[in-house]
Amino acid sequence: MVDMPTKNMVNLTIDGKPVTVPEGTLIVNAAKMVGIDIPVFCYHPKMEPVGMCRQCLVEIGRPVIDRVTGKPVLEADGSLKIQFGPKLEISCATPVSEGMVVRGTSEKAVRGRRDILEFLLTSHPLDCPVCDKGGECPLQNLTMRHGPGTSRFIYDEKMHLAKKYPLGELIYLDRERCIQCGRCVRFQDNIVGDPVLAFNNRARAMEIFSNSRPGFDSIFSGNTTDICPVGALTTSDFRFGARPWELCTTSSICPHCPVGCNLAVNERREARSNGEIMIKRIMPRQNEAVNELWICDKGRFGYHYTESMDRLTQPHVRREGELVAIGWDEALSYVAENFVHAGKNLLTLASGRLSNEDLFNLSELTHGLGGKAALYTHMAGGDLVSQLGVARGTNLSDLSEGSVILVVACDLHEEAPIWWLRVKQAAERGATLIVANPRFTRLEHYASHVVRYPYGAEAATILAMVGALSAKQNFPKAPKLSQGSEAVKAAADTIASAENLIIFYGSEGIGLETSQALAQACANLLISTNHVRKINNGLVSVWSRANDQGAWEIGFRPLPDLTPAFQQYEAFYLAGVDPAGDDPALAELIRKAGFVVVQDLFFTETAKLADVVLPAQPFTEREGTFTSGERRVQRFYPGVLRNEYKPDYAITAAIGKLAGINLETLPLRIFNSLAAKIPTFSGLSYKTLSQVTEQWPIVGRGEMYYGGTLYANDQGLGEQLSYPSQMPELAWPQIPEASPPAGGLLAVPVNILYDRGQTIYRSMLLHQRIPPANIALHPDDAQKLNLAEGVQVKFNLGGNPVEAQLHLSEEIPLGVALIPRSLGVPISTPTVIELQTV
Ligand code: SF4
Ligand code: SF4
Ligand code: FES
Repeated sequence: MVDMPTKNMVNLTIDGKPVTVPEGTLIVNAAKMVGIDIPVFCYHPKMEPVGMCRQCLVEIGRPVIDRVTGKPVLEADGSLKIQFGPKLEISCATPVSEGMVVRGTSEKAVRGRRDILEFLLTSHPLDCPVCDKGGECPLQNLTMRHGPGTSRFIYDEKMHLAKKYPLGELIYLDRERCIQCGRCVRFQDNIVGDPVLAFNNRARAMEIFSNSRPGFDSIFSGNTTDICPVGALTTSDFRFGARPWELCTTSSICPHCPVGCNLAVNERREARSNGEIMIKRIMPRQNEAVNELWICDKGRFGYHYTESMDRLTQPHVRREGELVAIGWDEALSYVAENFVHAGKNLLTLASGRLSNEDLFNLSELTHGLGGKAALYTHMAGGDLVSQLGVARGTNLSDLSEGSVILVVACDLHEEAPIWWLRVKQAAERGATLIVANPRFTRLEHYASHVVRYPYGAEAATILAMVGALSAKQNFPKAPKLSQGSEAVKAAADTIASAENLIIFYGSEGIGLETSQALAQACANLLISTNHVRKINNGLVSVWSRANDQGAWEIGFRPLPDLTPAFQQYEAFYLAGVDPAGDDPALAELIRKAGFVVVQDLFFTETAKLADVVLPAQPFTEREGTFTSGERRVQRFYPGVLRNEYKPDYAITAAIGKLAGINLETLPLRIFNSLAAKIPTFSGLSYKTLSQVTEQWPIVGRGEMYYGGTLYANDQGLGEQLSYPSQMPELAWPQIPEASPPAGGLLAVPVNILYDRGQTIYRSMLLHQRIPPANIALHPDDAQKLNLAEGVQVKFNLGGNPVEAQLHLSEEIPLGVALIPRSLGVPISTPTVIELQTV
């Protein structure tokens, strides 16, 4: 039984079972809470009921009330006199009431539901043997349980409609399987705010269509295939790929962004892949505190890199200028010998693509040899998130009236889609949303306050909020704080009266130094308003990788400038990073650098320049933990077994052994060492991370009809980190003056969802969503330069000539050019450029 809220409770009886539930609970949910299944098609526990399918019919009786006395009428035996309605009623849209009696198994109710099923099947093709949903189909299952054995309708009178209609390149519609429940349309309208699906025509001719160009243009589209209660919607990825009962399931965590969505990886061994285990699809796994029942399309379809033919399969060393394949033993000895020789001149650079266990072993090895371990990132502030991150027990679903969410310098829709979704929903529940960004982002549709500032003034804008709040306070060592614009003051007033405050800060338009200043400014806002170390309060960093926060917690910090580092150190251990691919200037330095070891999945631009290349393993083939942006540590498990590869932590441990540094080789033991050494991890273990408690709504394999075809969480909800003992303090960052460039345009980097990163580009399915290298301007700026939409332009960036396609948008500030990171244009910090046509 789930925890009941402490509002008025109502007593009723369902199928003879006494039930007590909160006032306002729908009958269908009250039944589910006590283990009674009432079949549904159009109802979904995350959406408002619409009563479209009538599958949930029940008999409902209510106490008879004496019209004169206003009191319940009693039977001779003293029990309440109950009067049943003449007709069956739908339980999905009817709330419970005191003394109600519900009959779901009476002959009348059973016959009513059977008739509805017979009606739904009048035009359903009954092609279960070839349908992707067969085996996990609510219509199939409910027909077996509640439907008629025969039909009065004639087969030849069935509607015959398109069976392979592409709504977009990712989702196909089988028109004749649709039972018009409207779940997909309502999901797109109400849950994700992308109304790109709609019904066309009426009655039996009614059909779903996509009204967007390109078709089904939504980054959450895959979820509709989970909640469609029939095989009408299928993904182009899984369509005719396997039967559900052939699939094994592994619990996992999405590696693509800092949200840490819980996944279920479905795999099977197949003949056409030489008997190898292959991933057939990725599905959401329920975690109500992280992703509820949803994942974005990047998380669902972006796994194909793990089975790319380009994967590195063997270690390589450079001999006579060429990289040649060699055995593991020889490669590891060569690496260990050179690392020992380098000693304090060893620099390890790692990214948040690696797990906590990988990073811990890398740190132990590097420090054991006297070297330096650093984080490869364009964004900073993780130390402040460690001190001021959201407290254990925080859940964005709990935010409503009285809570304030401030989102600054990021576009959550592009950078962390499920956070976008949950922040949007919090705003719809009554939380006050403040969006601060120099340009329009989609979250503004739901914001109560929009604060504009010029690129470069992110930290100054947040400090101005502190200034506006501080009129009556005397902050120690505070510089003279501006009180900002009217919009800043209004936002500050709202924050002043907030019960809860969560701040999401990002790196749009800024680099390392400015993002650290922004994080400090946000920290000051939290500290000065006393929103620290409390549930549903704190600082969240919108990192670009899944485990950047884990790296900060373990002690990795970015270097202010990589150029002197590549000149100064003698040996380099580059794990899960591609500096040469990101910046041609760094490529030149790496070419000339000392002994370079690259540990990665592919022959990246950096690997091509290395002395030794070591093949690593993706998240699907090994186990470990990631720490999300909300500081939740979560376990992922191996689904695909490949003995020829080694996980990063094992490669590092093997090098350590040869170098005389003893490191753990099992992830469980590494995690225990990590938890013993790093205070914020103390008290966590693989066992605590694997614990589950019952969640609402109840979903999973036996409940597919109710929440959709997704997976219950039986392998761990994860656990949030504790805080370091050191209390956060106000500190006043140096804020560089934001001034517009004299001549030229200020090119600023922005983050986008679908980029050319190693882990996305190899998922061919997503290629249509990945734009070419581009630069975006305001049309007035383009007109001054005599440039038109779509032309190729060239410019110089840090000494590198670059070409990109021009886009125009009135939402871009004048004098600014937006350039997406990781699309082939090497930009990490704001730079002044001059544009020319190619
Ligand atoms: S496509 Fe599926 S979810 Fe959408 S209306 Fe039809 S049956 Fe319902
Ligand atoms: S929101 Fe982020 S973590 Fe969740 S599925 Fe999408 S990319 Fe993965
Ligand atoms: S009408 Fe109740 S589930 Fe459709």
